[in-house]
Amino acid sequence: MSSSSAWTADANEAFSLSLVRAPEDKASLWLREVYEGFHPTFTYPIFGEEEKIYGYKDLSVQLKFASGSLAQYLNVRYSERLPSSSAVDEIEPTLSKFIPPGYSTDEQEFLERVEHDATHFKPYGEKIYSYTRAATTLPKGKNVSIPQVLGPDDEETVDFEVYHSTWKTPGFREYHRRMQLFVLLYIEGGSYISEDEETWEFAVLYEKRRRRSSPDIFTYHFVGYSTLYPFYCFPERVRLRISQFLILPPYQQDGHGSALYTAIYQHVLAQPRIAELTVEDPAEAFEDLRDRNDLKMLLANEKFMGEGFGPQAISSNGGKVGGVGNGRKMRGKGRTMRAGAGKMGPPAERSWLEKWRTDLKIAGRQFHRLVEMLILKHMD
Ligand code: ACO
Repeated sequence: MSSSSAWTADANEAFSLSLVRAPEDKASLWLREVYEGFHPTFTYPIFGEEEKIYGYKDLSVQLKFASGSLAQYLNVRYSERLPSSSAVDEIEPTLSKFIPPGYSTDEQEFLERVEHDATHFKPYGEKIYSYTRAATTLPKGKNVSIPQVLGPDDEETVDFEVYHSTWKTPGFREYHRRMQLFVLLYIEGGSYISEDEETWEFAVLYEKRRRRSSPDIFTYHFVGYSTLYPFYCFPERVRLRISQFLILPPYQQDGHGSALYTAIYQHVLAQPRIAELTVEDPAEAFEDLRDRNDLKMLLANEKFMGEGFGPQAISSNGGKVGGVGNGRKMRGKGRTMRAGAGKMGPPAERSWLEKWRTDLKIAGRQFHRLVEMLILKHMD
């Protein structure tokens, strides 16, 4: 008799995801290992708190996505399975509660769909941001070593584009149903948003490539996305809150999260209807990303830095924004401020800061943290 552990699989190991491109759109064959067969960080929302699947030997649960349209293919394989009983986990019925109907279980059919989608899929909504990266730096992924060379047919640069959409954008509701699984798999404590709440907004990031055989055709490949919720802000504007934010593992640690955050921030700045950008319960990695990008933005703002941290401001007041007192330390790499930090000096300085804060559309607590960090940086 085998022990029960022989029939128990680690769900995060057994479950793998792939972003599948049409053969012609494989950026380079050596990139396949990055896009295909990466694992979730969490499976507890699907397979239970223990993240185990019981009843199979050599279990492999592959969920493959067409890289642009996110059409899905599910393939469950194992060498042996215990006879059905209440203890054996039923995989497809469990997983199918979390993905929309219409996924394929026939690989050939899926590959035909991938080929079709490659030329037909176009991003939903309105383009709000774009940037270009050197193809050689792309994509690194975590712990994956790829030769930094280009094949003879490879492009030297790759474009990335961010699209803004709402539930009203034709086709987007169905598209979102295919991407929302990533929230459960990668955001701790993540859950599906309600489609009944009409006001959700979305920012989706894509890699954009030229087809080799027809350079006037572009193909789009999903990289990551963010859900955004507008709260009413007196008297007639909204406060836009980043609710969920993720970059898929093959694209992480390569600046794409920063680019998507910047795209959202620029969108907020450009929209008179939005008063400020806030974030819901950020994970530590996201808080770091936000701090880094906000600080970079403030440091590049010559007027703000000149007025607040220039020689004149410094000599007159130890820094115009220096009312927070000397020598304060922030705990945990600048993440948590001591009580009382963020109370900015006399009223004139408070209103000076408040004017900048509202112009820059940064939430109050975040802005005061940033100013505190700038003061500490200035004192170094
Ligand atoms: N080469 C090497 N490293 C780079 C490059 C580059 N070109 N560009 C940035 N980096 C480094 C950054 O310095 C940073 O380093 P650090 O981790 O040591 O601080 C790191 O890469 C991350 O920065 P980005 O690459 O801009 O961010 P990334 O694309 O990896 O996205 C994110 C970060 C969103 C947290 C991603 O890891 C993710 O989706 N994680 C899983 C889901 C998650 O936790 N989401 C946030 C939940 S909170 C919320 O939803 C509100």
